[in-house]
Amino acid sequence: MRKCAMMVLMAVLLGILCGCAAKPADPESHAVVVGFSQLGAESSWRIANTKSVEAAAREYGFGLMTENANQKQEKQIDAIRSFIAYQVDVIVFSPIVETGWDNVLNEAKQADIPVILVDRMIASENADALYTAYIGADFYAEGCRAGEYLIRKADHDHLEHVRIAEISGTPDSTPMRDRQRGFLDTIQGDSRFEVIDSISGDFLRSKGEECMTFLLGKYGRDGIDAVYSHNDSMTLGALSVLERNGIEPARDILLITVDGEKEAVDALKAGKINCVVQCTPDLGDEVMQLVQDLKAGKEIPRVTHPKEGAFSDLDDLTDPSVEGF
Ligand code: AHR
Repeated sequence: MRKCAMMVLMAVLLGILCGCAAKPADPESHAVVVGFSQLGAESSWRIANTKSVEAAAREYGFGLMTENANQKQEKQIDAIRSFIAYQVDVIVFSPIVETGWDNVLNEAKQADIPVILVDRMIASENADALYTAYIGADFYAEGCRAGEYLIRKADHDHLEHVRIAEISGTPDSTPMRDRQRGFLDTIQGDSRFEVIDSISGDFLRSKGEECMTFLLGKYGRDGIDAVYSHNDSMTLGALSVLERNGIEPARDILLITVDGEKEAVDALKAGKINCVVQCTPDLGDEVMQLVQDLKAGKEIPRVTHPKEGAFSDLDDLTDPSVEGF
């Protein structure tokens, strides 16, 4: 199977070199070629997610064409167009933002190539017609978990007034929108909480540092009680700024983060982060299973959410299930 996939890939590459976009030869082999448009490499989460998809494609014996868009929507659109030209069997695609995909996804539809959205969603009046399935986290539930932790913490520590600064992810992306909405909906109406600011760190560690520096400059060390950050990369950046300024993370300023990479879970265990909401990057196996089922003509679920939870300083952190990716 693996050999077949390699042959198919070589045929595809040859097609590219010749400037012709032919369907890979050898239909007898039942080989499947997947075009994977990854949005970038902005975080450890993203890098782990790319590896997961690549490893699963190998395991399933599928040919995989990966294009990494380096955070640029235009590059993702180009990648999808090239997959259409090569007539891949399935397009797997992680949209950097929710809007602006109608034209290219309509082109995929016209070419009769099914599209599986992975990790992030699209938004359009016509969205339902533009993809076959979505697999990824329930980001709204993740935001709720972050808010629920803060409520538990305030109850536990008898906190009366918590001034929260939010460091959000890429504007217009699904995790940014839904993690924010879930969090705000959960703490809404509880007069102990006040969101004093929300700025975007684009899911990048370097920007997490910049955001924290900006927030400290604006509000001072005594003006912020909690930081809700939409991913671990930004949180780890913010954490280093706190430490450099002699501020004890997780004590002087509460830190709530999302993802669950090893470095963040280790920081939680070391008492430097208060809560880590899980978001698994290991979506590859389930994606390839969907591809396989689709090619076998089976009905596949429209939406698949992996099972996720949260770890915090109010839980037993010695439990073996508390580990990062
Ligand atoms: O879409 C998932 C988010 O994107 C992860 O939380 C973040 O780390 C990544 O960049």
